[in-house]
Order: sequence, then structure tokens, then C-alpha cells
Amino acid sequence: MLAVIGGTGIYEIVEMGDEVEKKIIKTPYGDSPEVSVFQLHQKEAVFMPRHSKGHAKPPHIVNYRANIWALKKLGVERIIATNAVGSLFESIKPGDFLIPHDFIDFTRMRKGTFYDDKTVHIDVTEPYCHELRDILISSGEVVGEGVYVCTEGPRFETKAEVEMFQKLGGTVVGMTGLPEAVLARELEMCYASVCTVSNFAASISPNKLTIDEVFEILEEKKEDLIKLIYNSILKIPSKSDCQCMNTLDGAEVESSWEREDL
Ligand code: HPA
Repeated sequence: MLAVIGGTGIYEIVEMGDEVEKKIIKTPYGDSPEVSVFQLHQKEAVFMPRHSKGHAKPPHIVNYRANIWALKKLGVERIIATNAVGSLFESIKPGDFLIPHDFIDFTRMRKGTFYDDKTVHIDVTEPYCHELRDILISSGEVVGEGVYVCTEGPRFETKAEVEMFQKLGGTVVGMTGLPEAVLARELEMCYASVCTVSNFAASISPNKLTIDEVFEILEEKKEDLIKLIYNSILKIPSKSDCQCMNTLDGAEVESSWEREDL
């Protein structure tokens, strides 16, 4: 099964399918937001509003563990996430779509792992599923790939932070991409993101950043984003050609009594 994690305003993807069933999933981390399970061209899919109903939870409060656990419990194998971002460069403009191939994590207070009771170090050399990324890149007009910088938020960035992110190799900056991508990988699900550039990052834009500006662009690009995701879903093969489902092979530190060499 495939899931779409929606940021703001792309619930309409559900209306392109049928047999919608709404559910709230119980997890060890709390209840999930209400998700919609639907059929799209004989494929079962689920839509999850990341911020819950009415954008109730800001990015730093979203219960990422409950969200990803709930999708795993529903039988989801692949996730297409949507994220709003600010652009760190003038060449990437509001309204553009970008498919990140890597990230830099500047979040600070979020629960970022499912493995608190045992030691698991997953490989994230390539943190986004290459197969899903290729499908997204070929399914609509995207500017290409880039490095997603995730901040804790909820405030926007300072000028010095934007300059630092540029120097570090970031392309876009957002608040919702992590730890979501890592948690999906920890549960061996394929995960890729479509970033909608909603603004130039603070200080690149000459004006004060406002939420109205962000939401206006997201609303404008909503239809194209839904089309891009819809086209991608149609292209996804039933068997995947990636290693996401083998993430835990060789990732767990054995307890010392299980190791023959100790
Ligand atoms: N910074 C951080 N998060 C964002 C931005 C931004 O400029 N735009 C949309 N989400």
C-alpha cells in the first residue's frame, strides 16, 4: 500500500479515488491523525494529514512517531510526503517543485527514533528512496534534486542561519521533513518527498516573510502537486527495486551475551 503524507491542502487527492474509509490508528506513541484509506486505479492508498485536522499541530509538535507507526500498522510500504520549503537560492523560485536527495538535520527537540530500547544505527547514506524519487522526478515539472535543511521552527530563519545553510550545501529549508524520513527508513518503508517552494528564505526575499505568502503559493500550486503525485502513483511498480526494505540488516548492535566473540 502507498501513503501520501500531506502538508497543507492536498486532501483533494482522496477525491480522485473512491471507497474512502476514515480511520484513527492507535499506536504506542498516541493516536494518529484521522487518515483516509481509498482506492486509486485498483491500488489501495492512504492519505494522512501531517498536522492533523485544521493544521492543529505545528511542525515541532507533530507526533512523527505516531504518524509513521500508524502507516506501518496499516500495511504501508511506500510513502510520498509533501513539504513546504523556503528556497536558499534565487535560481529556485516560489512555485517550483524539488525532490530532495539528501538532508541536513537541524531539529533539536523531536523524538527521532523508534529504537530507544535497543541499539540500532541505520544507514542513511542515501536517505530518500531512489526509486520513488526517480518516479516523482519523471512525473511532472520539477526543478530537480537538492539538499533539504530541516530546522526546529516554528520561527523562520535568521540571515546568518540562511547564509550558513547555503555554505553547508543546503538547497531548501523547511520544518517538517525530519525526523519523518528517518522514522520511515527505520521501519523499512520507502520514502520520498516533493517539496513545494513557497517562498525565498528569509533575507533572500527583500520583504518580511509572512504565512499568507506561503499559503498563497501552496494554494496556487495545489492542482499541479496533486497531478504530480497522481501520475507518480500510476507509475509505481508492484515490486520495488530498492534496498529500503532491508534497512535493518546489519543495523542492530547485538547484546553482548548474543555475541560469540565476547
Ligand atoms: N523556512 C522554514 N520552513 C519553511 C519555509 C522557510 O522559509 N517556508 C516554508 N516552510
